[in-house]
Amino acid sequence: METKLSKEKEVLDYLNISRTTLWRLKKEGLPTVKVGNSQRYDIEEVKEWVLNDEEVNYQPKEIEKKQAIIEPSNNETLHFENAEITDNEINNTERILQEYPISLTYLLEHNDKYLQKIFDKECIEKLTENLRNYDDTNVSNAKIVKIFSFEYLKLLKQKHQEQTKPKEFNTELNNFIQQDNNSIRVIWGNCLDLMQKMESESIQLMVTSPPYYNAREYSQWENIDLYLEDMRKIIRESWRVLDNHRVWVWNVGDIFDNDRKVTKSVWGKKRIPLGAYFIKIFEEEGFEFVDDIIWDKGEVESKRFMNGGMDYPFYQYPMNCYEHILIFHKHRLDTQKIPCPVCGSLNVNGNTQSEIGVQSWECKNEKCFVRSPNNRGKRFSLRTNMMQYWFDEDINNNRVF
Ligand SMILES: C[S@@+](CC[C@H](N)C(=O)[O-])C[C@H]1O[C@@H](n2cnc3c(N)ncnc32)[C@H](O)[C@@H]1O
Ligand SMILES: [Zn+2]
Repeated sequence: METKLSKEKEVLDYLNISRTTLWRLKKEGLPTVKVGNSQRYDIEEVKEWVLNDEEVNYQPKEIEKKQAIIEPSNNETLHFENAEITDNEINNTERILQEYPISLTYLLEHNDKYLQKIFDKECIEKLTENLRNYDDTNVSNAKIVKIFSFEYLKLLKQKHQEQTKPKEFNTELNNFIQQDNNSIRVIWGNCLDLMQKMESESIQLMVTSPPYYNAREYSQWENIDLYLEDMRKIIRESWRVLDNHRVWVWNVGDIFDNDRKVTKSVWGKKRIPLGAYFIKIFEEEGFEFVDDIIWDKGEVESKRFMNGGMDYPFYQYPMNCYEHILIFHKHRLDTQKIPCPVCGSLNVNGNTQSEIGVQSWECKNEKCFVRSPNNRGKRFSLRTNMMQYWFDEDINNNRVF
């Protein structure tokens, strides 16, 4: 079969994607065809890759004529032909949905089969009751999907929390932490002891500057290995307590000291790369290392690199003065279905893991409002939903998103 090959610029223009995205897809294996000294692309092949790529917000420039159908709770099927899915799929979806509104009751009925697979009867009743607290009349459909997703994920999280409750769980402490989201609460104590009493996945961001080995009198260890072992216990427990798909910010300096593994004398002092050691520990404990921001602290105070002004034995060297701000992500694989961010359906199938621990899903609801030009359902993950769809001022003051 003869295929028409396109130049890079044509591909970029036609698919409305950036050059960086195309380069990334190529790195991930997108095939290209060599024509003379230049590269060409099979546009259909690129399109398929783009549609399968969860990170790309694919917005074709051309107007696609689509058919959208929705079945409201009274089972009367409404057809909406030639709805235009154009450059902004969310606005468009919202516009279509405004004409044919869905409701929380509809989503409950539509998803009943899937809910029964995940939750027991009591749990589903709780979900129904929680949803009854919302008045969904005159509420936009996107918001109804958000509310449904929010209440569904709240239950999913509660289930996970019950399954991973620590032995030393302390109700009083957790109630104190969970109360009024808008206030600052300070808890004084050993962070390991405290975390062992805390609910799983109950903290949305962690930031710390840990003690830097034996840099201060208040914190002294026999040697570097014992110090790192203590820090590892804290990092391991923080994996349980940090919410899923959230961020850990770890500020640490590479200190100059004796690691005390062989000798303890002042002559054994050297640079101890705590930043590097912590990256390894975090990775071993399941976190993903994402970035290392260098905090430039300016002038060095120490004069040790000057060798007392003497030019022998060439121990003089330039020094810098910095600390690391290490960024890690937690990605615990979402094994349970996540509602489609467009239509709220749990009729979704798992795709590949777009990143270790991040499950991506594809909406299989034939009546969903967003389908790709190749008639593939909406692709999404909990991570992208958290970042792109579910922010809502009215319902974001919560512990799910
Ligand atoms: C490098 S300092 C960070 C100081 C902090 N950035 C500040 O401005 O106060 C490390 C701090 O961690 C505290 N620390 C050490 N071990 C701890 C533990 N197990 N639990 C809680 N805090 C601890 C120390 O008391 C010290 O205040
Ligand atoms: Zn959908």
